[in-house]
Amino acid sequence: MNWDHFFIPYIQTVSELKVKLRGLRQQYEKSGEDSPIEFVTGRVKSQASIEEKIVRRHLDENRLALDLQDIAGVRIMTKYVEDIYTVVDLLRQRTDFQILEERDYVSNAKPSGYRSYHIVIEYPVQMYTGELKVLAEIQVRTMAMNFWATVEHDLRYKHGELNEDLANRLTKLSESTFALDQELSEIRAIE
Ligand code: GTP
Ligand code: MG
Repeated sequence: MNWDHFFIPYIQTVSELKVKLRGLRQQYEKSGEDSPIEFVTGRVKSQASIEEKIVRRHLDENRLALDLQDIAGVRIMTKYVEDIYTVVDLLRQRTDFQILEERDYVSNAKPSGYRSYHIVIEYPVQMYTGELKVLAEIQVRTMAMNFWATVEHDLRYKHGELNEDLANRLTKLSESTFALDQELSEIRAIE
């Protein structure tokens, strides 16, 4: 497996998506409108974490591009919950990639308490050998959801699996986090 070679189109995809999505925010700013996008981050999954997933899920090394949807990953953070759906609509209107799958963990939180809107896209990258379509995962979430998910992810990583008490406390905390998001939306609606 030549990893350097394997990563090339994914690195390209993440950089292009970051430029394009940050560009949307700049367009709103320049026109003096509130942007539904607060900030955008992106990463290519590390070789170590791909290898870990190959072992854990018994994946075939020759099918990674098909079996792993999140080798290229981009996150869009919003201030308000409603903005998530505005962003999702913006993404649906685009003609530079194809949406393959949508998972709404905003309205339907995962058992852990995790919330985010996930979109899997097929992104065409221009290589010197021609066009290559790669899968990428776009996660859209509020800054509060991002805060919770980041901390929960760190703790899970640090402790291996979370013990039941800690997991329950984090799930409760995710409910408070969502209450904060809803209260912010109400405050915004009054204003
Ligand atoms: P993966 O094997 O992790 O890809 O799960 P999946 O194929 O079922 O996809 P799913 O859409 O459920 O989750 C993919 C990504 O969402 C993960 O890589 C994380 O970034 C994020 N995610 C999902 N569940 C959780 C969670 O409970 N906590 C945190 N912090 N992140 C989560
Ligand atoms: Mg996944």
